[in-house]
Amino acid sequence: MSKRTTTLDIVSRKGKTPLVVLTAYTAPMAKLLDSHVDMLLVGDSLGMVIYGMDSTLPVTLDMMIAHGKAVTHASSKALVVIDLPFGSYQASPAQAFESSARVMAETGAAAVKLEGGTEMAETISFLTHRGVPVVGHVGLKPQSVHTLGGYRYQGRSEEEAAHILDDAIAVQDAGAFAIVLEGVREDIAARITSQLKRPTIGIGASPACDGQVLVVDDMLGITANTPSFVKHYAQLSQAITAAVKTYAEEVQNRTFPAPEHCFKIKK
Ligand code: KIV
Repeated sequence: MSKRTTTLDIVSRKGKTPLVVLTAYTAPMAKLLDSHVDMLLVGDSLGMVIYGMDSTLPVTLDMMIAHGKAVTHASSKALVVIDLPFGSYQASPAQAFESSARVMAETGAAAVKLEGGTEMAETISFLTHRGVPVVGHVGLKPQSVHTLGGYRYQGRSEEEAAHILDDAIAVQDAGAFAIVLEGVREDIAARITSQLKRPTIGIGASPACDGQVLVVDDMLGITANTPSFVKHYAQLSQAITAAVKTYAEEVQNRTFPAPEHCFKIKK
């Protein structure tokens, strides 16, 4: 069995071969992805992708732990990172530590991800000084959808761009070992990536980043509507619909189950 990727392995990839990251929420998907990615992210996007919620805000720590446990147990190579959900870390560094300790102890994952910039620096420092590796997340922060006024790309003015750069630097200096940059223009991603010592992982943030992450159901063509930055590497919703249609026809015309699918008395 190959050794599992560590946070130090991730840090050492800065400026080298880009990091490959995908979300995973279930054991079967984690098994399929494990040997092809550097990191498996159990994102709180699972609220929308798996549970059909309107946003990530109703996702609970118990949901993240249940899915995190499945993904960690089903994988052996990729570093597993688990999102801290909305309301489980913003109140205080102590609350963030309690949530992270539960996540790490109950799932076996090696790191957590949390959203926020300068305002979360104290919390990130508190966590990293107490043995919790942290991935930061700046730019478009889906847990702040109501304060951002929607899922819009960030850094539209020079002032906003400077603010995102300040956020990324604060998160890095507080101890984050990698930083997700979501929904930012290529020039801003390039500027941040060149100024940081830690790898940036982009989603809707151009190839200027040190790695890329996508929601796996989006890139496989399972999700109905995907953002414009998503490339569809497969069209699984079409394949599933075709397969289910054929199954329904075969059940109705009794061609399934065929003799090879039936138990018979052995002679
Ligand atoms: O929740 C999530 O899946 C994420 C990624 C999209 C970065 O945070």
